Amino acid sequence: MSKLRIAVIGCGSIARHRHIPEYAAHPDVELVAFCDVVPERANFFANQYHATAYSNYEDLLANEKLDAVSVCLPNYLHAPVSIKAAQSGVHVLCEKPMATTADEARAMIQAAEEHHVFLMIGHNQRFMPPHQKAKEILKRGYLGRVISFRTAFGHPGPESWSVDGKNSWFFRKNEAVMGAMGDLGVHKADLIRYLLDDEVSEVGAIVDTLAKNNTDVDDNAVCILKTKKGVIGTLAASWSYQQEDNSTILYCEHGVLRLAEDPVNQVVVSLHDGSIENYQVGAVATNEKQVTSGVIDDFIHAIQTGTKPSISGEEGLRSLSVVLAMIESSDKKTFITVQP
Ligand SMILES: NC(=O)c1ccc[n+]([C@@H]2O[C@H](COP(=O)([O-])OP(=O)(O)OC[C@H]3O[C@@H](n4cnc5c(N)ncnc54)[C@H](O)[C@@H]3O)[C@@H](O)[C@H]2O)c1
Repeated sequence: MSKLRIAVIGCGSIARHRHIPEYAAHPDVELVAFCDVVPERANFFANQYHATAYSNYEDLLANEKLDAVSVCLPNYLHAPVSIKAAQSGVHVLCEKPMATTADEARAMIQAAEEHHVFLMIGHNQRFMPPHQKAKEILKRGYLGRVISFRTAFGHPGPESWSVDGKNSWFFRKNEAVMGAMGDLGVHKADLIRYLLDDEVSEVGAIVDTLAKNNTDVDDNAVCILKTKKGVIGTLAASWSYQQEDNSTILYCEHGVLRLAEDPVNQVVVSLHDGSIENYQVGAVATNEKQVTSGVIDDFIHAIQTGTKPSISGEEGLRSLSVVLAMIESSDKKTFITVQP
């Protein structure tokens, strides 16, 4: 079988930490082209993988014979670049948040459908070992119904993450559109939908800029969620937690499920009968400590088997819709019904 020909568009942090090494580690993949507006970033990887460097993604799509691309760009470029790639007949793995509006996200889904290519969104929280284990435990049913939850994702902010540091696009509303909510909140909105196998139906939120003076996007948010099945919970997203929090607690009928709270036992089940189950399954990824995301392997598997990726454009749209509703709730100071 010939190798799948892949290009990576945007050669910043998520590309260099996750997409590029995970494609490079895949035996059935050939990295053939890289694109970045900063030419040395694309050149660096093109030299390393004997590939071609571009500074314009349209030139890359026009010149290269590709099977798929990763879109690792600032949020405002996700939709136009993903749509253009789909129109060129290549499968698309786009980073989260899928887009900046629901209409953009729908246009991405439509472009992929019309051109018979797959669209996958990089919601890697689903694949993290504690979350996979939690899914398995919940499926077994012995915890009973989930009644409420709290989930949080906070770290000091993108200054130490983005390739452009404190001058990053992450801090500019015209490129990021959303701040901590688009960076971190959308991860947890997606995780809750995934773990509960449920849809968020209603949200209330306070989304604010409290800690940073170099930005016109949100850096802190606290949100209340209700799901279609009637579960209620809270979600916090922050760029000012100096100690990272990436934890989730599910309060269930027969016990409590704690995820990524204890660094040793990443999954802890405390049953109401007093018994405790500790699981050492591996950590969630942090900015400093990266672990294999599993997203790239899943994307390649989807292409090879012709099976729609599990984290499809429709899934990305639903998680994005939750975050957009939270921002609307904060702006309007009222609860909002989530419109997928
Ligand atoms: N799944 C995850 O856990 C995760 C983690 C971090 C970031 N992300 C997402 O990945 C995306 C990229 O984030 P990042 O952290 O890599 O940002 P980054 O700032 O480190 O890198 C962005 C890169 O895009 C390049 N770029 C900007 N405009 C371009 C254009 N028109 N054409 C080509 N290149 C262009 C920049 O020069 C830069 O190299 C964001 O949407 C972000 O939300 C996802």
